[in-house]
Amino acid sequence: MTRFTTPPSPALFLGLLVAVFSIPLLKNAQAGGGHTFPPVIDRLVKAECGACHLAFPPSMLPAASWRRLLGDLRNHFGDDASVDAGTATRIGDYLVANAGDSGGQRYGSRLLRGVSTVNPPLRITELPKWQQEHRKVSEREWRQKNVRGKANCPACHADAERGRFDD
Ligand code: HEC
Ligand code: HEC
Repeated sequence: MTRFTTPPSPALFLGLLVAVFSIPLLKNAQAGGGHTFPPVIDRLVKAECGACHLAFPPSMLPAASWRRLLGDLRNHFGDDASVDAGTATRIGDYLVANAGDSGGQRYGSRLLRGVSTVNPPLRITELPKWQQEHRKVSEREWRQKNVRGKANCPACHADAERGRFDD
């Protein structure tokens, strides 16, 4: 009889609570995280910084990284990506305003966890969190003909242009 009158144990209650709150998390996990990195929509930035590779989403690096990159486009990873001063300023303003630590982009800042803004990285592919996400990709896969390096995001992420990297 007493079974029906005793209130549910705190443990059971907690279990239920956890179950209820796990449902949205599970749904997210199945969708691969469902994170979006807002893509570059500025036409000038897209044209200039999307000519040789994906116009990387600005939220993937801190503002200090974009400033550093824009500061020396002539020596850009072995390429000359220089533009005139006015264009560089416009591109820099856009990238800095939309950088991962410029507010608003939650997942962007998660990718930047533990990243130094004093000695900012020049590469997204150097971020500890990026490397962690790609730990299962083998050296052989990076070197494959259709990939040719870590910076070629769209080779594996078909929707990279739209800011989606979860497939
Ligand atoms: C003339 C070609 C060219 C242009 C134009 C260019 N880049 Fe690059 N970029 C490269 C090359 C080459 C690499 C190195 C790719 C690699 O390591 O596989 C690179 C790498 C990068 C990386 C690092 C990628 C990583 O490994 O995480 C960033 C960030 C980047 N570029 C930003 C920019 C920005 C911002 C612009 C526009 C101002 C720009 N790039 C314009 C050629 C270019
Ligand atoms: C050789 C293929 C390959 C290349 C090239 C590649 N990735 Fe990935 N990426 C993967 C795999 C595999 C995963 C882990 C599985 C998954 O979550 O889709 C992943 C996961 C990710 C994730 C985590 C997705 C999430 O929401 O959980 C991000 C963000 C990401 N990649 C960004 C990038 C960026 C930016 C570039 C280019 C600088 C890049 N990747 C280049 C294969 C690649």
